Amino acid sequence: MPMRFLDEMDIDGKRLFVRVDYNVPMKDGAITDDTRIKASLPTLELALSKGASLVLCSHLGKAKGAPDPKFSLAPAAKRLSELLGRPVAFAPDCVGPEVLKMAQALKSGEVLLLENLRFHEGETKGDPAFAAELARLGEVYVNDAFGTAHRPHASVSGVPAVMAACCGGLLLKKEWEFLGKALESPVRPYVAATGGAKVSSKLGVLRHLLSKVDSLIIGGAMANTFLKAQGLGMGASLVEDDLLDEARAILAEAAEKGVRIALPVDFVISRDAGKPLGEMTAAGVVDAKSVPADASAMDVGPATVEFFAGVLAPAKTVVWNGPMGAFENPAFAEGTMGVARILAGLDAVTVIGGGDTIAAVGLSGLEDKMTFISTGGGASLEFMEGKELPAFKALREYGK
Ligand code: 3PG
Repeated sequence: MPMRFLDEMDIDGKRLFVRVDYNVPMKDGAITDDTRIKASLPTLELALSKGASLVLCSHLGKAKGAPDPKFSLAPAAKRLSELLGRPVAFAPDCVGPEVLKMAQALKSGEVLLLENLRFHEGETKGDPAFAAELARLGEVYVNDAFGTAHRPHASVSGVPAVMAACCGGLLLKKEWEFLGKALESPVRPYVAATGGAKVSSKLGVLRHLLSKVDSLIIGGAMANTFLKAQGLGMGASLVEDDLLDEARAILAEAAEKGVRIALPVDFVISRDAGKPLGEMTAAGVVDAKSVPADASAMDVGPATVEFFAGVLAPAKTVVWNGPMGAFENPAFAEGTMGVARILAGLDAVTVIGGGDTIAAVGLSGLEDKMTFISTGGGASLEFMEGKELPAFKALREYGK
């Protein structure tokens, strides 16, 4: 079945059951970043403009299958109401007779947000009985929770299987178009910039990208393993010694496929190994070939940023996943910020995915200069591995 999206559905006056991802960061009960709530507005506003009523559900945090006030979605209901400019009722649970009554009483244009799905273990277990309970709350299922698209949970995979009609929301559609279609048949040259701490967490992405891109930039601590695999001494830097052969195999595969690999040529180093990241200081810039035995590479250096700028200059499509250094400490942020500035200045489609990279672009203040920033951390990573995510699988299988 081809997947269907909200803008193709007959939803006039219907009660929609919408899976959103309001797993937003909170501090002392207050939302510190409402990006994900804002990202759901186009779907909600389209549905409301057609006279639909909305039952919204989400998870928040790692609640363990029982109510836990620190993971209540009540603050999200309040914020959503401010953003929508209309009341948003809040249900004390996500299933049960009281919630069913609240859902059934909704009139056209009314909105109800349910309490955290993960207060019931049936959610993460993908329990069909729990999914059937949820499915009673609406007439049309809409999945707009891209951040959760990689979780085979009841509200993602189970509910669409039993509801009369189901589709993806507008956010899911946008993510699908950029992470899926744009990167599947990219305008060339297509360059991927990858980084992050560990090769082990990016193997799937690297392998998938190798079959797509013209050039592959590898930065972050991940690059240390590749440089060591090429025979360089990396001092006290983070290296995954058990993956040296894997790194060599990736380099060989790239050569075979004609993909250009760009690795750092210099590093900002630190001699504070063992200290918490926030307390580490920079001890200068060294050539990648001469990292001292007692020093760790913490960020790519200025010559590397210039080199990467040259690799990126001709690109018409760029995907960026993974920071270039330990950017959480300002002493090691310049490589990552430099790459953000390069992307911001390109005449290319620029797609950003992965939790840390999204946070880094947020810090750079250059969000508006990127073509598309995914709302998914783990989900965008798995998407970039070429996997079919459970949310899309369910919509494809049960689309009706
Ligand atoms: C996320 O923030 O990546 C999603 O909301 C999924 O959350 P989870 O990792 O707790 O399943």
